[in-house]
Amino acid sequence: MEFKHFTLQALLLLEILMLNPISCFDNCNFPAIFNFGDSNSDTGGLSAAFGQAPPPNGETFFDAPAGRFCDGRLLIDLIAERLGLPHLSAFLDSIGSNFSHGANFATADSTIRPQNTTISQSGYSPISLDVQHVQYSDFLRRSQIIRKQGSFQNLLPKEGYFSRALYTFDIGQNDLTAGYKLDLSTEQVKAYVPDVLDQFSRVIKLLYAQGGRSFWVHNTGPVGCLPYVMDRFSVTAAQIDKYGCSSPYNQVAQNFNLRLKEAVFQLRKQLPQAAITYVDVYSVKYSLISQAKKLGFENPFLVCCGHGGKYNYNRFVKCGSKRVVNGTEIVLAKSCKDPSVRISWDGTHFTEAANRWIFDQIVDGSFSDPPVSLKFACNRMNS
Ligand SMILES: *[C@@H]1O[C@H](CO)[C@@H](O)[C@H](O)[C@H]1NC(C)=O
Ligand SMILES: *[C@@H]1O[C@H](CO)[C@@H](O)[C@H](O)[C@H]1NC(C)=O
Ligand SMILES: *[C@@H]1O[C@H](CO)[C@@H](O)[C@H](O)[C@H]1NC(C)=O
Repeated sequence: MEFKHFTLQALLLLEILMLNPISCFDNCNFPAIFNFGDSNSDTGGLSAAFGQAPPPNGETFFDAPAGRFCDGRLLIDLIAERLGLPHLSAFLDSIGSNFSHGANFATADSTIRPQNTTISQSGYSPISLDVQHVQYSDFLRRSQIIRKQGSFQNLLPKEGYFSRALYTFDIGQNDLTAGYKLDLSTEQVKAYVPDVLDQFSRVIKLLYAQGGRSFWVHNTGPVGCLPYVMDRFSVTAAQIDKYGCSSPYNQVAQNFNLRLKEAVFQLRKQLPQAAITYVDVYSVKYSLISQAKKLGFENPFLVCCGHGGKYNYNRFVKCGSKRVVNGTEIVLAKSCKDPSVRISWDGTHFTEAANRWIFDQIVDGSFSDPPVSLKFACNRMNS
């Protein structure tokens, strides 16, 4: 009788746990975010080092260029807002930065692997993930020395924040296009992906050794649906999928994501106290593009801020490009009337409206492995 009663209770508990696995965890109250990435999450790094993103970038939310290649906010901005934290200052930005609740090491055009070309040759940022980690290490060490000296208390994170922070990642897309720019075949690009992911895992392990525990990892998006990829790298008609994206490039992205997921799985085994959330941003971005009209957007490939061509995109006349004609400066690539109904801002980056939709899909954990929501991403789920 008693045994039976116990079993029933245990079953009930098990059921509650299975139906609602998150309810038994606490809100993480992340005090800080440290972000690593490329332009998908750059809030001013490339602008600080190599020149500001020109207007009309920033027009929708910031009313002026704000170091982002977007009309408004990025996913990382929306993540910070949801966690009740200020937008992240770029580590490289020496003017007006406030790092009390984190820092952003991402720069546009960054790759995971260091490239063997300069930014003026290939356009890739020299601040690859390994360099971003070096900068983080410097920030961690020196911010604490300076705080202990009693300076900049209101500008630098408290010591305890580093282990309680959320470490966010959105990087890898440029590692894939870098190979194509060197005229490598899809097979050759796929062949170096394991090396890219080894270098990614190495950085996570280093951050863990330095005290990081909560990691939020975005996989890479459907690059084959980006106007700049579709414009730059031609494919045959048979390689265009039913929504208009270039299949070979999306397959490479999916291959990268499969291996990224495996790498995360291995990292969970190697780092017993790490909570690593893998977020399938690919699926969310692909469903946005494939259902654009239904979701209130226009042609998903029509760029808002661009100039000419099939997609209103020309790689030689980028968003905000100016020309001096007869002594007068004219802007060639201007913003469209209503960025809120466009998905692509400039051919490479999403609009704030698109970012908002993507954020709303991923924030509750629906596209995450394990399925934890943003605020609970410090909880390790053993599965
Ligand atoms: C750069 O060159 C080195 C030496 O040849 C090579 O090992 C490395 O893979 C190259 N990196 C990239 C991103 O191609
Ligand atoms: C930096 O930001 C934090 C949080 O928003 C704020 O409390 C602090 O006063 C700011 N520091 C300065 C020097 O403005
Ligand atoms: C620039 O000046 C030349 C010579 O006066 C003129 O022929 C041309 O149309 C002008 N171009 C524009 C875009 O106004």
